[in-house]
Formats: sequence, structure tokens, C-alpha cells
Amino acid sequence: MNILLTGGTGYIGSHTAATLVAAGHRVILYDNLCNSQASVADRLQTITGHALPLVVGDIRDTALLSKTLTTHQIEAVIHFAGLKAVGDSVKDPVTYFDNNVGGTISLLQAMKAVGIKTLVFSSSATVYGVPHYLPYDEKHPTGAINPYGRSKLHVEELLSDLAHADAGWRIACLRYFNPVGAHDSGLIGEDPSGIPNNLMPYVARVASKALPQLTIFGSDYDTPDGTGVRDYVHVMDLAEGHLAALISLSKGDSPIRYTNLGTGIGISVLQLVDAFQRASGQTVPHILAARRPGDLPAYYADVAKAKAELGWTAKRTLEDMCESTWHFQVTSRHANK
Ligand SMILES: NC(=O)c1ccc[n+]([C@@H]2O[C@H](COP(=O)([O-])OP(=O)(O)OC[C@H]3O[C@@H](n4cnc5c(N)ncnc54)[C@H](O)[C@@H]3O)[C@@H](O)[C@H]2O)c1
Repeated sequence: MNILLTGGTGYIGSHTAATLVAAGHRVILYDNLCNSQASVADRLQTITGHALPLVVGDIRDTALLSKTLTTHQIEAVIHFAGLKAVGDSVKDPVTYFDNNVGGTISLLQAMKAVGIKTLVFSSSATVYGVPHYLPYDEKHPTGAINPYGRSKLHVEELLSDLAHADAGWRIACLRYFNPVGAHDSGLIGEDPSGIPNNLMPYVARVASKALPQLTIFGSDYDTPDGTGVRDYVHVMDLAEGHLAALISLSKGDSPIRYTNLGTGIGISVLQLVDAFQRASGQTVPHILAARRPGDLPAYYADVAKAKAELGWTAKRTLEDMCESTWHFQVTSRHANK
């Protein structure tokens, strides 16, 4: 199948590209490089042995998207492109809605124009908001608590309306939990510029002494050790979830479905730090600080629907997540010297 990956040079997009090519698909990357580098396409060539075309463009450029869909005879789109920093979305909601919602409208217009109706959308567990119960299953009420989460929810609502208007669409909304880890090659991984927003790359930089210490916000939550609990899922498991979603869309007769992608296991910040220290052999100096406003104490996924509908479960362990992150950290540091 010819598959377009918007945001294809980003963290999750690049790992999914490697998985799809290994499964025999032809992948075209489309990215404006606002949070990734063109060299990821070269690294993917090293990993897969195939040259992956990269179109440098913005998803809000509907004409370029339509042209790309036609030129490369695209049959399905996986839509990763988006901005994802919760704090930035609070400061600048207009930019977030323009990019995440406006960008998706542009993509759907392009897909409609050329008659492509198969779409996998990168949604997020943030659409659930404050837990009414745990684990979150897909029937849990939605209620995002920040502009980033609301931009994802708006897109889900738009896709729901689209699927009801035209039952010919095949749409999978994948609600990711907390993707971490890296490809075994160490050539691609999560490599944010500046100070990382997410815990795992922050921990990796502290372990490598690029940052002095980790501040853990909140140590008095109602969790086993008082620190926040999340459902960390290996990015290569997540990548395989996209392949499973595409296969299931091609077989299914439902125009839209929503699926959690997580492990179903809650891991605390201190557990993650401990596992990372063991995997890397480095110490991760950390201090405990007050809770941060807006942080949820704990959440994790009910993964029964992913298993039943996609035949997918996460296989990799917390140790695999930490080891691959450390391998990438060391490899990329050498590559950048
Ligand atoms: N990483 C996470 O923790 C997480 C969790 C839940 C959902 N998601 C969602 O998954 C998707 C991928 O996340 P990621 O972690 O790989 O992020 P990422 O920033 O590494 O990748 C996103 C890619 O999209 C590109 N992009 C952004 N806006 C664009 C635009 N207007 N036109 C073209 N390209 C554009 C960026 O350059 C980047 O390469 C995002 O939509 C994100 O919201 C991520």
C-alpha cells in the first residue's frame, strides 16, 4: 500500500515509517520540519534499505497535499503532524488550533478532492481529561483540560461528523498514552530541541549529564510512592499499532473507531527513574517539588479494545523502553559531535 505520513519525520512518525516499510509498504513522508530534521529520512534509508521520499511542506498547504496524494498514488494517510506541547498550547491556543485543527481540515479537503478515505489519526489520552474511573476505556467521557487536548478532541469530533456524513470513510482515532523509547538501531528516537517537555528525554539528558538534575513535580499524590503515574508505551509497539489499525480498517465495515494504545500498566515517576538508572548504569539526580497545576495524579489505559479489534498488545517492557532510550541518547550524542 502507498501510505502518506504527515509529520513523518517526527518521533512517532519516523518509527512508524520504519515498521511500515519493514512490512512491505511504500511510505512517503510529508513534514514542514518545524519539530524534526530532514536527516531523519536518510536515517530511515539506513534502517530500512529503501529511500523514502520526503515532501517538505505544511499540512495547511492544501494544494501541495493534493498534488502529493496524486503524484505518489496514495491509498491511506496516517496523520501525525501537529504541535504537542501542552504548556505552549495554553500560552498560544490560536497557533495550536490553527495547526492541529486547521491543518486537519486542510488534509481532509485534499483527501476528499482526490477521493482517498482511509485515515489513521494521532489522538491522545488527553482527550479524556480528569478520570471518572481508571483505567480509561474508550467509553470514558471526554473532557480535555487544556487547549492541546481540546484541539485533539475537536478533530475527533470533526472526524465523527465526517464518518456519519459519508460511510465510505475508514477512520481510526488512536489515543496514545505516553510514548517513550527508540528504535533498536539508535538512529531515530525522541530528540526535542531545547529543554525536553516530556519525562523520558529529560531523564536521559540528566543521565548523560547534559542537564544537572530532574525535578519531580508532586510527591504526595494518592499513588503507591506519591509521584505521578502514567502508562508508558514503547514507540515501536505504538508503531506496530498503526500497522494493525491499517489492517483492521481494510477489513472492517465501521467508518470510524477509537482505540487506546497503551500497556494498561501504570508506572510512577520514581519507578521510571529507578528503571532508567539500572538500564543506563548512570545516576539520575532528582529532587521532589510541589505539584504542578493541571497535572493529573494518575492515568492508564484499558487495552482490551485494542486487543479485540486490532489484535494488538504492547509487548515491550519498561526495561526495553529505558535501554533503547539510553542507546539512542548515547548514539545521537556521538553522531552530533
Ligand atoms: N509524543 C507524545 O507524547 C504524544 C502523545 C499523544 C499524542 N501525540 C500526537 O502524535 C503526533 C506525533 O507526535 P510526535 O511525538 O511524533 O511529535 P513530533 O513533534 O516529533 O512530530 C510531529 C511532526 O509534525 C510536524 N508538523 C507539525 N506541524 C506541521 C504542519 N503544520 N505541517 C507539516 N508538518 C508539521 C513536525 O515538524 C514534526 O516532525 C502528534 O499529533 C501528537 O500530538 C503525541
